[in-house]
Amino acid sequence: MASLNPQSQPTSSPARSAAGSRTWVRPLAASLLTVALGCAAGAAAADDSLPKLANKTPLRVGFAQTESNNPWRLAETKSFKDVAAKCGWHLVLTDANGSNSKQVSDIQNMIAQHVDLLVFPPREEKPLAPIVLQAKKAGIPVILVDRDVDQSVAKAGRDYITFIGSDFIDQGHRAADWLVKTTGGKAKIIELEGTTGASAANDRKKGFDDVIAKNPGMQIIASQSGDFARDTGRKVMETLLQAHPDVTAVYAHNDEMALGAIAAIKAAGKQPGKDIVVVTIDGTKGGMDAIAAGELGASVQSSPFFGALACDVAQRYAKGETIPTWVKVSDRFYDKSNVQANMQYGY
Ligand code: AHR
Repeated sequence: MASLNPQSQPTSSPARSAAGSRTWVRPLAASLLTVALGCAAGAAAADDSLPKLANKTPLRVGFAQTESNNPWRLAETKSFKDVAAKCGWHLVLTDANGSNSKQVSDIQNMIAQHVDLLVFPPREEKPLAPIVLQAKKAGIPVILVDRDVDQSVAKAGRDYITFIGSDFIDQGHRAADWLVKTTGGKAKIIELEGTTGASAANDRKKGFDDVIAKNPGMQIIASQSGDFARDTGRKVMETLLQAHPDVTAVYAHNDEMALGAIAAIKAAGKQPGKDIVVVTIDGTKGGMDAIAAGELGASVQSSPFFGALACDVAQRYAKGETIPTWVKVSDRFYDKSNVQANMQYGY
């Protein structure tokens, strides 16, 4: 399996484990068979194989974004805009404004327009899975980026080309390992979860909670969704601070909620980084600045730069190359020991 940092180079070849249901790497035998049989590009497959992708330019590519409410999402969309001309893509871009049903209808419109390729981050695992099957039925190949769908409904390598993204479970492990080390294995933790039903939230929770469960001095005293949004994170933290004034640590599933929590901690007259340690995931510029200021403890960087990777995967797929079912993105990690030296990677 490929393992890439979008800003650097391929690394190792680990196995897929997200959501506990993902299959391990296997070659795209079905798609290779389709190539060998010479099926017409873009035509609905008569058998159960993946739709073929035309090796042509321009290619009409639909990118259906979930929302644009934070720097991570904006950087992700920009990476597709930036790569479009270089890759020979005519980009059809939509924004679901945080709605699963809008993202589904955006993708349905793209299917109706017969785009050549669909690329999207499924907002939630379950509601966005059936549309992958609809695209396949219509003969349009799909690449999922950033988040994945429910593997019991749609499977990478069978129903869509691949999933390009980070190992969210491992991100949760790394955040928890840092927190255990930093607190000496003793903490009362508030967990701010991401969007309920999103693979990023499910897996970041699983990875973190699994490590915490093995450390008897570490206790998760409350866990609630802040929807990956700064203001929601702040409001949830305000309420939880009142209910749990003994909190000593916060784990937020993304930087934006961590920054919201930091604002709430300050408003409650406590000092983030001293009275309450905060650890998170994303590695945005705002998160890195907060680490440098001593208010945020650490952030696992989750890269949003999928444009160039998706272009590369699409070109290789169009040529008939075998694509692994998970193109894994490797993640950097920042705390006060290395944040200044890595500021150029903030976004
Ligand atoms: O799916 C990735 C997560 O979604 C990022 O951590 C977050 O900032 C975004 O909204």
